[in-house]
Amino acid sequence: MTSTPPTQERTALAAQPALAGALSTVRRNIAAFGDLYPDDTTQDDRYPLRPAEGIFAEGGNRGWTTSFWPGMQWLSWEITGDEVFRDAALRHAADFERRVRQGEDLDTHDLGFLYTLASVAPWRLLGDEDARQAALLAADHLMKRFLEPAGIIQAWGDLSDPAQRGRTIIDSLMNMPLLTWAHEQTGDERFADAVRRHTIQLRDHILREDDSTFHTFYWDAETGEPLRGATEQGAHDDSCWARGQAWGIYGFALNHRATGDASLLDAAWRCADYFLAHLPADDVPFWDLVYHDGSDAPRDSSAAAIAVCGFFELADLEPGTVRAERATSAANAILDSLVARYAPEPPEASDALILHGVYDLPKHNGVDEGTLWGDYFYLEALTRRALPGWKPYW
Ligand code: GLY
Repeated sequence: MTSTPPTQERTALAAQPALAGALSTVRRNIAAFGDLYPDDTTQDDRYPLRPAEGIFAEGGNRGWTTSFWPGMQWLSWEITGDEVFRDAALRHAADFERRVRQGEDLDTHDLGFLYTLASVAPWRLLGDEDARQAALLAADHLMKRFLEPAGIIQAWGDLSDPAQRGRTIIDSLMNMPLLTWAHEQTGDERFADAVRRHTIQLRDHILREDDSTFHTFYWDAETGEPLRGATEQGAHDDSCWARGQAWGIYGFALNHRATGDASLLDAAWRCADYFLAHLPADDVPFWDLVYHDGSDAPRDSSAAAIAVCGFFELADLEPGTVRAERATSAANAILDSLVARYAPEPPEASDALILHGVYDLPKHNGVDEGTLWGDYFYLEALTRRALPGWKPYW
């Protein structure tokens, strides 16, 4: 469980300008959204409520991004100790328990993103037993997507959907920590085995020889043969989608921590070096790494925020080494740029913590907007910097 800093220290932390701005926005959004959920991205820098769809009313708990909202509340509570944040996050934890028990919108590998932040976090921070049970149910559900003989977790859609069958994506690395946690909790080796095999398949196939990454990769679900890489949200099948590369940095690093497999640390650094070599002058990537300084392509600030958390994680993995110094200096440079150029000033100018993210440019969805995950990882990055030794929810 967490050891929150003493009150005086917390007051000083929360007064740091970047944190103060972010915390004021989280506070304002709690008042605005109540127990409902903002949409994936802002529209003109304001979050609308998540639109109604099918059985879901406006603001309902559906999709892959809703947990970033309580995730921000848990971070805010750890920094400030203010019960407003904890109480809001606990109400969301109850709603996530309801979601998994009622089987609502669970056909996705993103159960890892969802239940790590909404349910594992309250277990880690408060020992909340209901949240623990919800997270274990979600981990069991996620295991249904583990395909033999390929040894991968299918990313999207119904398992019988031919268009999605045998397909995984680099983002899935961030869904593995839910399974790692479930293994720690239950001792059931199925969870650990899935993490080992899935991450090795991604290391071998989604990471290319030049250290860039495919967004998605297909396996033959019957024979387990690796088939081909492709993109869904990047510029081209053979380009390098910036957020995917950032998921690779953080995801391979976290899975190295979980498994002790040195090749995953190597994979994380390969992603990291490629990412750094393709940053423009202000250290925040274009939405796809094919673009360079001089391009008018949009930036993806969310990819930068994810990468910062990955670099801080890499620094923690090898403390006192030259590589840790490199990782820390990369994290600080990118984070400084986000604070100086991408956080709204004044904070009330937007509902988002950082501006200029991209969700899915090929589908014209959330381009040059704030994003819930960009906001979460920006606040995690600020927290990691402000509270060395902070224990990740992942
Ligand atoms: N995990 C989905 C995305 O990064 O857009």
